[in-house]
Amino acid sequence: MENLSSNKLTDTKDDRDSVIQRFFPGTGHTYDRIVRLTTFGTDAAWKKEILSRLPKRAERILDLACGTGILTFQLARLYPNAHITGVDITEDYLDVARQTIEKLRIENVSLILSRAEDVKLKTSFDCIVSSYLARYADLEVLTQNCAKMLCSGGILLMHDFVLPTNPIVKSIWNQYFKLLSPFARWRYPEWEPAFSGLANHIRNTTWVQDLTTTMADVHLSDIRVEILGRGISAIVTARKE
Ligand SMILES: C[S@@+](CC[C@H](N)C(=O)[O-])C[C@H]1O[C@@H](n2cnc3c(N)ncnc32)[C@H](O)[C@@H]1O
Repeated sequence: MENLSSNKLTDTKDDRDSVIQRFFPGTGHTYDRIVRLTTFGTDAAWKKEILSRLPKRAERILDLACGTGILTFQLARLYPNAHITGVDITEDYLDVARQTIEKLRIENVSLILSRAEDVKLKTSFDCIVSSYLARYADLEVLTQNCAKMLCSGGILLMHDFVLPTNPIVKSIWNQYFKLLSPFARWRYPEWEPAFSGLANHIRNTTWVQDLTTTMADVHLSDIRVEILGRGISAIVTARKE
């Protein structure tokens, strides 16, 4: 039976790799459309929430699991004088991001093909952000590396889905996820593996608890958990002293 638990501190790298390989390769070219269609604008609202929690000024920002660059390019617009580094493990997502950079002649973004946990840059960052990485990552390793790459006063922010606790929202959420798989089979077959596994992946995730524990372990301060969107996603932030 496949392992669809998500980032309990005991999960192995192989467990995480198999989920990443099942969910992402081959979906980069339709990702932006799928996000718009399936979140009914909620993803755009969450990205605004992320941006609103970042410092007014920043010179260097790291976007981990940048994907096709939805958040990365918003950061590049909001901080025209900053340099944004995007990292992602899936080549075809970065290909889409590279095409956007070329098409829009964006000069303040660079991209790195890598597992987020393996990134150990000498640059010191004012902010490190991620949207939809926390469930897939080894948070112990990731947080340790991020703490080293943050400058003093720098912010680490991670955003991802959580399981709603309100029974009415949870029931709608369950029904919604039941519809995603047949929708994908009908219209976007490349998304079927991800959509058939996503609900369980979110049900089993312990990312908020794991992340806050590891943030405290590496002595980040002001650790804050904010639940968004009727309880279906969360933002966790912390600051380096
Ligand atoms: C749902 S997409 C989110 C993309 C982007 N952050 C956004 O909000 O639109 C998740 C992305 O995480 C990437 N990813 C998953 N695990 C990763 C890891 N351990 N290191 C780097 N990228 C990872 C996938 O390749 C995929 O592009």
